[in-house]
Amino acid sequence: MTHEMFPGVALITGAGSGIGQAVSCSFAKEGCKRISIADRNEKGLQDTERIIKSEFPDVDVLQYTLDVSQEDDVAGLLKATIDRFGRVDYACNAAGVLGPDKRSHELSSKEFDQIVGIDYRGCWLTSREELKYMVNQEPLPTHDGRQGNRGSIVNIASQLGIVSRPTAPAYCSAKAAVIGLTKSDAIDYSKDNIRINCVCPGVIETPMVTEVMEYMKPAIDIAPLKRPGTAQEVADCVLFLCSSKATFVQGSALVVDGGYVIN
Ligand SMILES: NC(=O)c1ccc[n+]([C@@H]2O[C@H](COP(=O)([O-])OP(=O)(O)OC[C@H]3O[C@@H](n4cnc5c(N)ncnc54)[C@H](O)[C@@H]3O)[C@@H](O)[C@H]2O)c1
Repeated sequence: MTHEMFPGVALITGAGSGIGQAVSCSFAKEGCKRISIADRNEKGLQDTERIIKSEFPDVDVLQYTLDVSQEDDVAGLLKATIDRFGRVDYACNAAGVLGPDKRSHELSSKEFDQIVGIDYRGCWLTSREELKYMVNQEPLPTHDGRQGNRGSIVNIASQLGIVSRPTAPAYCSAKAAVIGLTKSDAIDYSKDNIRINCVCPGVIETPMVTEVMEYMKPAIDIAPLKRPGTAQEVADCVLFLCSSKATFVQGSALVVDGGYVIN
């Protein structure tokens, strides 16, 4: 038994901004000492490492610049993480793009492929690579002595994987696919004692939506809590799902949306 909640290695994509950055910093706050942060935005990664180190100088941070839609980049991220830290225990796949506001007949196949290539295929590529290592590692001790998991993956889907909004056909369908992927992998890897869940955020104040906040206003008004969420509020849910407090949570799509989808 260990009283530590996060004795293992965390890996976060999309870690240079918004939700991924909040997840990365939260792992450090909650005591995780080995954190691999990845993004295509190098400057964002530097910011994230600076924020972590300013409060927690003893945390070992690995920065990795990549495009999650590129298979070789993703393989490189996992190899670098294993080379440096020896394992990967908590993975949060948060890299994503919203894409242009267009209806299907206005969207080019190139635009469709870019959105789906990052939001869905990129999520699959990353979780596939994480699983390759997780299946071969021993579970860590847990905070209260219960049986631990070999690994825990949290994909960032969206409330838009459950309900849709106008002018985002590729994004909404990619996020629905991430929920389906999460459930399929959760079934397949239960026998390996690996948990795979996803989080479905509503409107969250991050750089992704600040530029298009005017489109988000109706969604904010529909949600009973009538406000956007914070990246920290999503990160808190991700950390719960990664932790040994969530050992019986498998294949769930945890909605973090101020009640949007129930209204
Ligand atoms: N903000 C919201 O309202 C909201 C709601 C639901 C779901 N989400 C999802 O949450 C996740 C994080 O979004 P956010 O709101 O923090 O946005 P954000 O734009 O602040 O962060 C997204 C990060 O992903 C990175 N990224 C994008 N494409 C990449 C690629 N191909 N390879 C590597 N990195 C890439 C970006 O550089 C950026 O740092 C996304 O998957 C998004 O779809 C966001």
